[in-house]
Amino acid sequence: MRITDIIRKKRDGFALSREEIEFFINGFVKGEIKDYQASALLMAIYFNDMDERETFDLTKAMLDSGDKVDLSKIDGVKVDKHSTGGVGDKTTLVSAPIAAACGVKIAKMSGRGLGHTGGTIDKLESIPNFRTDINGREFFDIVSKTGICITGQSGNLCPADKKLYALRDVTETVDKICLIASSIMSKKLACGSDKILLDVKTGSGAFMKDFDDAKRLAELMVKIGNSAGKKTKALITDMDIPLGNAIGNSLEVIEAVDTLCGKGPEDLEQVCIELAANMILLAQGADLEKCRQMARQAVKDGSALEKLAQTVEAQGGDRNYICDTKRFKKADFERQVKSPADGYVVKTDTEKIGVASVHLGAGRETKEDKIDFAAGIILKKKTGDSVSKGETIAVLYSEHEEYLEAAEKELLCAFTFGSTSPEKRPHILASVE
Ligand code: URA
Repeated sequence: MRITDIIRKKRDGFALSREEIEFFINGFVKGEIKDYQASALLMAIYFNDMDERETFDLTKAMLDSGDKVDLSKIDGVKVDKHSTGGVGDKTTLVSAPIAAACGVKIAKMSGRGLGHTGGTIDKLESIPNFRTDINGREFFDIVSKTGICITGQSGNLCPADKKLYALRDVTETVDKICLIASSIMSKKLACGSDKILLDVKTGSGAFMKDFDDAKRLAELMVKIGNSAGKKTKALITDMDIPLGNAIGNSLEVIEAVDTLCGKGPEDLEQVCIELAANMILLAQGADLEKCRQMARQAVKDGSALEKLAQTVEAQGGDRNYICDTKRFKKADFERQVKSPADGYVVKTDTEKIGVASVHLGAGRETKEDKIDFAAGIILKKKTGDSVSKGETIAVLYSEHEEYLEAAEKELLCAFTFGSTSPEKRPHILASVE
């Protein structure tokens, strides 16, 4: 078999066989197939797509490219939750402790920020001494004892995805349904949980801008999970507006704690309760309304907040930061961004808001960049809010005064003002199972 024949076949619009897909993945991981050849094949896939059978075969080949975690020795049903990525998306920090407080076991591997989207691992690392390199015995022990462990992507889990993702990121081949589905599901299946809940984001801040694309992605991932014997469900949730008001790592941890105290923004609270309720439903099989009540009760009685504090402590972090979020260092510089118009915020380009937070130091422009944990944005106005000229629409935070200018420009470009209030979009748009 030759990789050049495989590239030509896909370039000319034909489906690849399972053997050809395995040949590509195995050769690429070993370094025998070069980045420039893999890039050409990715672009051919981008334009000519993969059918369902090819996507299943790609997922399986990536899954088989590395180790698989065996969680069978941990008692109880293990549920994994995964978001396709968004701006201000701190749902894992809220929904996982709620579900764990209700008895669900969560053994979770999370990612770092990517492009304009944030990542759970970066957010957690803003808590002093929090460790995200937990593997093997220690991982099992923490899940068994506290009910949750959240770790970073370990050494040899889906190495094919790690390499391919890095290449997709720099060849503009990320936003393709077959490639996203195989990337996410190969990792989810390798992580060994019994059930999987997917949060597929759609809107201007998501990889899937269009609802129909998000639905197709959700349906494909659910099918891959279920056919691998893991009950999988997806919620399609709104990312046309940032979730909550905080964007940036420690700012988001603070907002997550507020939400676990019952004082979070309404949109974040609603999405997190729905995610947690669905995790409880997958694990325990009761009816969804009862699971929602359990989730709300875990917030009300403080058990979900205590679960987050226990998790932070078990992973080496300082739980006092959860009990008193004023301990988080504030950024040295801040700027209030003022509205240039009277009326309503009729639209936000959420990807641009994410880019503004990256300019402030909350994300990475290159893989090597260091994150400023205190950097970010607090939104004072979101889509649908009325606003007066000169009123603050957002506060920017950075450790570098010179970063504020570019971020302010980007943020102002992200807001559209008008004279009539726009129609409200629901936060949870659909579910797929
Ligand atoms: N997240 C992933 O893990 N993979 C993708 O392709 C997109 C988002």
